[in-house]
Amino acid sequence: MAKPALLVTRKLPPAIEARAARDYDAHLNPEDAPWYADGAEIARRAAAIGAAGILCAAGDRLDAACIRALPPSVKAIATFSVGFDHIDLAAARARGIVVTNTPEVLTEATAQIALTLLLMACRRAGEGERLVRARRWTGWAPTQLLGLTPEGKRLGILGFGRIGRTLARMARGLGMEIHYRDLQRLPPELEQGAIWHESDESFLRASQFLSMHMPGGEATRKWLNAERIALLPRGAVVVNTGRGGSVDDEALIAALRSGHVFAAGLDVYDGEPRIHEGYFGLENVVLLPHLGSATVETRDAMGHRALDNLDAILLRGEPPRDRVA
Ligand code: DGY
Repeated sequence: MAKPALLVTRKLPPAIEARAARDYDAHLNPEDAPWYADGAEIARRAAAIGAAGILCAAGDRLDAACIRALPPSVKAIATFSVGFDHIDLAAARARGIVVTNTPEVLTEATAQIALTLLLMACRRAGEGERLVRARRWTGWAPTQLLGLTPEGKRLGILGFGRIGRTLARMARGLGMEIHYRDLQRLPPELEQGAIWHESDESFLRASQFLSMHMPGGEATRKWLNAERIALLPRGAVVVNTGRGGSVDDEALIAALRSGHVFAAGLDVYDGEPRIHEGYFGLENVVLLPHLGSATVETRDAMGHRALDNLDAILLRGEPPRDRVA
């Protein structure tokens, strides 16, 4: 029997491309040429090969127009990411296309980047590194680059899912007190002593450190706006490893300039890879290039998980493990 055609939109780790090529008539993107950001081009390529499946990633644009333009041969879209705000799920449902993601396997790696940003921001590690690299460091000084200690501070975790809870576990090791805000209160075995807040206001007022783990999309767009930033204690530290769109960049930049926010650490950006120009002129913000899941082991695990989902749908006709639509 002919292997199903699979459109792979991005360059993937070698073991994943090898597995895709073994089990599918796989059309790879070895140069990572950027057509994946153009939904019409994805649809055109899927039609050209009669794709049964699409293996895409965060940053690809599978909006409603793209999904409507896909050929009828497409039965499954597997994204190589836990987030799926780049795929119009309603349009996929309307077409009967199953959509899957890759949860769990990137939890530790993403929480590690949140912790990295938290520590770099509060301890001014980015500034220090720039000082040394610019060969401007003249030696240890009692008042040089003084940061804030996380020990004994309140860490507010916005979105207490797998990644938020893993960060909580790590931050407890730093001696931080964990507070959280989520749609509802979690059972005690998941809370592990973290303090739930029923309102944004009490949560933000408590958060000397704020770490954001919100999904993307309209519901969370510019959630952290000037009004909410004003509720944070003066000198707060803000970290975002969720989606860039949930921060109002103008408001955060103003708060970083005024000192109301002591420092921020960002891994995700609204409209990335574009980054608001205002951040570049600020010393007190750490800017990472969306590294959340970027470890060799994690990216392999994400690729296998995405292919496991495609195999279930396209090779065995079974329900996939990680269906989101
Ligand atoms: C995800 O998985 O959603 C990340 O943002 C990409 O690693």
